[in-house]
Amino acid sequence: MRFSKDDANKLLQIMQARRDVRGNRFINTPIEDEKLQMILEAGISAPSVGYSQPWRFVIIKDNKIKESLVQNFEDENTKAKAIFKDKTLYHKLKLEGIKEAPINIAVLYEPKEEAVLGMTSMKKMGEYSVVCAVENMWLMARALNIGIGWVSILDEKKVLQSIKAKKNTQLIAYLCVGYVDKFYEESELKTLGWEEEKELSEVVTLC
Ligand SMILES: Cc1cc2nc3c(=O)[nH]c(=O)nc-3n(C[C@H](O)[C@H](O)[C@H](O)COP(=O)(O)O)c2cc1C
Repeated sequence: MRFSKDDANKLLQIMQARRDVRGNRFINTPIEDEKLQMILEAGISAPSVGYSQPWRFVIIKDNKIKESLVQNFEDENTKAKAIFKDKTLYHKLKLEGIKEAPINIAVLYEPKEEAVLGMTSMKKMGEYSVVCAVENMWLMARALNIGIGWVSILDEKKVLQSIKAKKNTQLIAYLCVGYVDKFYEESELKTLGWEEEKELSEVVTLC
């Protein structure tokens, strides 16, 4: 299959329009099964080291589980607030959308017991493969006008307990997924002045 320049431009447009969505933007509209399926298909289309496909996607809709995740976030965010005690902006930020998003997805890494091609020297490649799946999901969701927010201010062990994950699995991403009232045009953290955007020239080095 060959793609056109227009296709490539469209892909770049989707990438540039992807945003991290938090609880202030999610709306109640349920996500259609067919669209959730497309997001998950995008996830499993990702590259993986040695074609190990070491991912597992746990879909969470249950309010009790979500409540335990909110508590988990609150506890961890209290510690984070102490770290950023001099930055008043941190205390005002909404940094998750666990309850507001109709669906949460925990994306897990399930390491293989046997050796994996490509992972004999660099041991983190399994985890990185799962991150590739996450980005695919994020982009597919955006193409479907669905928002995703990645929440990482969480105690990983407690998340794994809450979702009854198998032993030896790792939490790579906790995603809040839902329709939104609007997508911001740029990163919210840029708009709020938390971080500046880096230019391409600042991050490319010739060697
Ligand atoms: C690995 C990872 C972890 C993140 N964790 C959080 C988080 O815990 N809470 C949050 O509000 N945003 C989180 N984000 C979203 C980033 O803040 C966001 O991607 C960044 O500000 C750029 O904005 P944009 O994604 O809207 O372009 C995370 C993003 C990544 C890639």
